[in-house]
Amino acid sequence: MGLFKDYVSQTRKPEGFLGKMMLRGMNSGHAKMADWGLDHLQRVDPENIVDLGCGGGRNAGELLRRYPKARVTAVDYSELSVEKAKEYNREMIAAGRCKVQQGDVSSLELSKESYDLATAFETIYFWLGLPQCFSQVAGVLKPGGYFMICNESDGTDATSLKFEKIIDGMKNYTAEDIKAALKGAGFSKVKAYHHKNKPWLTVIAKK
Ligand SMILES: C[S@@+](CC[C@H](N)C(=O)[O-])C[C@H]1O[C@@H](n2cnc3c(N)ncnc32)[C@H](O)[C@@H]1O
Repeated sequence: MGLFKDYVSQTRKPEGFLGKMMLRGMNSGHAKMADWGLDHLQRVDPENIVDLGCGGGRNAGELLRRYPKARVTAVDYSELSVEKAKEYNREMIAAGRCKVQQGDVSSLELSKESYDLATAFETIYFWLGLPQCFSQVAGVLKPGGYFMICNESDGTDATSLKFEKIIDGMKNYTAEDIKAALKGAGFSKVKAYHHKNKPWLTVIAKK
């Protein structure tokens, strides 16, 4: 189990050589799921977006591509994720449309009520204290702003439940768990979408 556990645990906070490998893998491995999640955001035209737990930065890049008038701030508490996300989005950073910063979702150092859209791909499993983290997200969204969560796991699939036992600090959530935590943090109009043949889950909430 040793090396396998060390490798898969890099999903929580990538660092070192294994973390670099994992970030490369996540950029390509999460793309289809992230794009499926983003396809559900049909009625938004955001100017200011924050991608939380951005990892290697591919999804921030996709947001910039889908919303050509938007600026994206990508946040991650891993120094290595921040470095890789900066590298991935270097042209957009140079163009002034993207910023990548180190920070913990449980205590966001971002301007209050300034984002139209917050996204979180494959990351809430690791957020310590979901209610506190969701309140932080609500705090940086403008009134009427959207929060989109996209997970490969619907909280019940066998693969993810196996990883939960291997990766310290990981927790899978069902759509109902997420909806309840979002409502508790003050979000309204919370809607969950399930993929038709995979355990993928997208939850979209309005502030
Ligand atoms: C499994 S990776 C997903 C990365 C990216 N969103 C993707 O879909 O490829 C989870 C990321 O969330 C970050 N993360 C976990 N908890 C965090 C927290 N409390 N604050 C900020 N980043 C966090 C990790 O450092 C890691 O880069």
